[in-house]
This record gives sequence, C-alpha cells and structure tokens, in this order.
Amino acid sequence: MTFKDMPKVELHLHLEGAAPPSFIASLAREKKIDIGGIFDARGGYAFRDFDHFLKVYEAACTTLQSPDDFRRLTLAVLEESASHGVVYTEAFLSPDFCGGGDLAAWRDYLAAIQDAAAEAERTMGITLRGIITGIRHFGPDQCKVAAHCAAETMGDFITGYGMAGGEMVGRPGDYAYSFDMAREAGLQLTCHAGEWGGAAMVAETIRDLKVARIGHGIGAIDDPALIKQIAETGVVLEVCPGSNVVLRAVKDWGSHPIAKLRDAGVPVTVSTDDPPFFHTTMTAECDMLAKTFGWERDDFKALNDVALKAAFCDEATRTRVAKRLETTT
Ligand code: ADE
Ligand code: ZN
Repeated sequence: MTFKDMPKVELHLHLEGAAPPSFIASLAREKKIDIGGIFDARGGYAFRDFDHFLKVYEAACTTLQSPDDFRRLTLAVLEESASHGVVYTEAFLSPDFCGGGDLAAWRDYLAAIQDAAAEAERTMGITLRGIITGIRHFGPDQCKVAAHCAAETMGDFITGYGMAGGEMVGRPGDYAYSFDMAREAGLQLTCHAGEWGGAAMVAETIRDLKVARIGHGIGAIDDPALIKQIAETGVVLEVCPGSNVVLRAVKDWGSHPIAKLRDAGVPVTVSTDDPPFFHTTMTAECDMLAKTFGWERDDFKALNDVALKAAFCDEATRTRVAKRLETTT
C-alpha cells in the first residue's frame, strides 16, 4: 500500500532544506566552492546531530548565491513535491540566505522564487505560498531584519512569518518584536518549538509570540494541561515525524507522539521538514504512519482538511485547493 497518488497538503517545508544533495553538489562544482565535507560516501547529506545538521544546512546554503539559483531550486523542489501528490505547499523562505537580509536583494530573490512558483502552478498544478523565516540562532536583531523583509513583501504569495533554527537559543519573548511587527503587517504566524525544548517551550511560544501554528510541537505530549489548551484553542501542530526520528528528537516511529496528540484532539498536520536530509517524502511519511499507527485513507483525508483549514492562504486559494482535494481523492 502506498499513498503516493493521494493528494496532499504540506505546511512545513524549508526551501533550502528541500534541495537535493546532487543539486547542491552541482552548484558547488559550478562555483568552485569546497563543501565536500557535508556529503557521505553515497552523495547524501551527512550530519551527526541537530547542531551539526544546522551547520551542514548552512554550508549547503553557501552554494545558493543568486536569484536564478533559487528559481531553479524552487522548480526542482516543487516538481518533487508534486510527484508525491502534494497539491498545496508552504515553504519557509529565509532572506538571510537570499542576499544576507538586504531588502532590495530579497525582492530580486523573491521575484525569482515567485516566477518558478507560477510556472509550477501552470505546469504541475501545485500551489506554493511563502513563510518568511527568521533564524533563531542568528539572534533577535537578525530576526527583525527578516521580519522587516516579510512586512515589506507580504501579499498573495508571502503570507506568513516564522522562526526556525536553534530552538534552545534565547527565550521566545526575546523574539516578540519580530513577531509583533509581522502580525501588525497582517502576516500569519508560526514558530518552531517543542522539537527540542519540551512542553514549556511550546507553552511559552504560544503565550509570548501568539502564533496560530507551531513547527513540530511534539514536546507538548508531556503536559496534559497544555494538550488540553492546544486542543481547545486550535493551535495547529506542523508535525514532521520522519525528521524527528532521523534527528533523534524521538527514539523511533513507534514512540512518536503524533497519534496520541491527534487522539487527544490536537489539530495535527504532517510534513517533511527537509526531505532529502531525512531521506523522506510526503509519500514515505504517510506510508510510515499507516504502518506504525494503522492510519488509513480517511485519516489522511482528515489530515488534509486540518492542514488546508490552517493554511496561510486567502479564501479563494483555500476553496480552489479544496476542490482539487475532492476531485483527485
Ligand atoms: N531548519 C531546517 N530544519 C529545521 C528543524 N528541523 N528545526 C529547526 N530549524 C530547522
Ligand atoms: Zn522545520
């Protein structure tokens, strides 16, 4: 049984993190950049743990140096997602990796990404929306720069602001200024939390950053009162089980809390995070959830409904994607 052809909605995908290693290796060759150390003998990304993963990720990003690199990357990523049935996806986009946070440069990179998204929508029927993302371990000031880029370029395509990176750096409240700026500009908000920081980090993030969604959020499992609060208020978790297993945020698939969270009424969604890093795809995530927890087609349809309801898009887009989910299911 495989869920490859089933239509899917994905909310948590890092654009650079979705770059195939062969794509990055060929850019490195083209530009004569030495990043050989980030690959294993078979050409995959090689990392020891989460901190090392972030370093490898940033080294890979050094090869992405122009708007055209991002145009090609976006097309390659969307082609791969579409081949796994994804009809709507949101990608984390980082001005830090697109011209170092300079607003004029960011506009050029964004134009190239949007160009590719429009082509993919036309030719593959996949819709992309962008969530501008501050990198937590770059610090609160650099996250403000990203939030400023977000506020200046928000619109039909850039619809959200978020934060990724080293979760244990600082406290959520240190980043409140960026989230406030983004909210006031009209952006919708998400933040990585509870991948490493446990239930307290999830609670603090919801309280201090007032986000609608949490990236990962699996640490909530240890606090029944928080689970109840999340279920009642409808904060949506962007859960990435394959990522959690590979980075060892959980021991194995069997001990992943996604099924318990869902059964407790928490709105959960499923995403791949950085698929080539974790040797995963949306199909593989569904197949493993089916194998581990006995989830069936109707469970995945329900996940799609939760994800589309929580998607950072306008109502016309939501309606159009809903029709695609209906007609292709
Ligand atoms: N950036 C890319 N993937 C990430 C993850 N899993 N956690 C935090 N930051 C990230
Ligand atoms: Zn992530």
